[in-house]
Amino acid sequence: MIIIDHSKVPEYAETLIDNTRRIPDRVNSLFCLRTVASIDAIDALIKAFYNEPKSDLLRHEICYCLGQMDKSPEHIAKIQAFFDKILLEDYPQIVLHEAVEALGNLNQENTFKLLERFNQERDGILYETCFLTKKLIEWKKETENGKSEGLNLSKLRCSTNDPAPPFNYKRRPEYANIPFLQQILLDNEKYDLFERYRALFTLREINTEEAAIAICQCMTPENSKTCSDLLKHEVAFVLAQMEEVFMPAVPYLLECVRNPAEAPIVRHEVLICLGEMIEDKALLEPFLSNEDLIVSQSAESAINLIEYRAKCAEQEALGGAGASKE
Ligand SMILES: [Fe+2]
Ligand SMILES: [Fe+2]
Repeated sequence: MIIIDHSKVPEYAETLIDNTRRIPDRVNSLFCLRTVASIDAIDALIKAFYNEPKSDLLRHEICYCLGQMDKSPEHIAKIQAFFDKILLEDYPQIVLHEAVEALGNLNQENTFKLLERFNQERDGILYETCFLTKKLIEWKKETENGKSEGLNLSKLRCSTNDPAPPFNYKRRPEYANIPFLQQILLDNEKYDLFERYRALFTLREINTEEAAIAICQCMTPENSKTCSDLLKHEVAFVLAQMEEVFMPAVPYLLECVRNPAEAPIVRHEVLICLGEMIEDKALLEPFLSNEDLIVSQSAESAINLIEYRAKCAEQEALGGAGASKE
């Protein structure tokens, strides 16, 4: 049972920064700091980022969490100052990707200027992330944060800050049609990536097994040409949020992560997602020795998650007080 204690920020910070500790413990502390979301929690995350010599799992996750901590103008100013700095430096692509995406949540004036350095990228993860971030900021402005589309972003099924909003499928019934959403999701000629992401988040909101299976089509070998690494990693992230209906996704995810041709960013997100879904940790053990550090550390975290869930289930079966995870 993880209970977040707001007075424990120094303890979480110490664990996160200590590279002699196990990666799963450091990841847990990182997410505890995100949940606390105080100014000193932000300071601790930033300090840990600069201290971390090699784990892109931790560094990109710190950027992701900072992008979720936009609680007040004071928080935003601090987080923005951090991204202003790191976006001028050469961090690995997955780290910069999360930093750029986080900027879309902060909604600050100078974001477009900051992204200029990536303009020459024609392809790949950073190009696509910048495209989405710009589109999201424009969309928020045009629709007054979704108001003109009748969307209340704070009332969605998931409370995360996402790179794109869903379509308002309640107001526009054509977007309640799963085969139509799947068509948008897979078609890279007719629809831009922002629209395809909107279809993905609409399927997440619909939250049925049929919607989960539609999302999984991004991972099949037939669709690998039209679905980019960025889209596939987001697919895994979204599936993990569809707790009640995600089991049919398991075979698709296992096939994807076992494919050595898949990009590390995809395999990383798929492993974390499987950690939320499966019971058999032996399925993930082969990835512990993967040559890519982000893949092996993700496997370690995912296995830890499986063990944690098993422990909670055991306690519950014994009639314990009911485990809860924040
Ligand atoms: Fe991401
Ligand atoms: Fe990630």
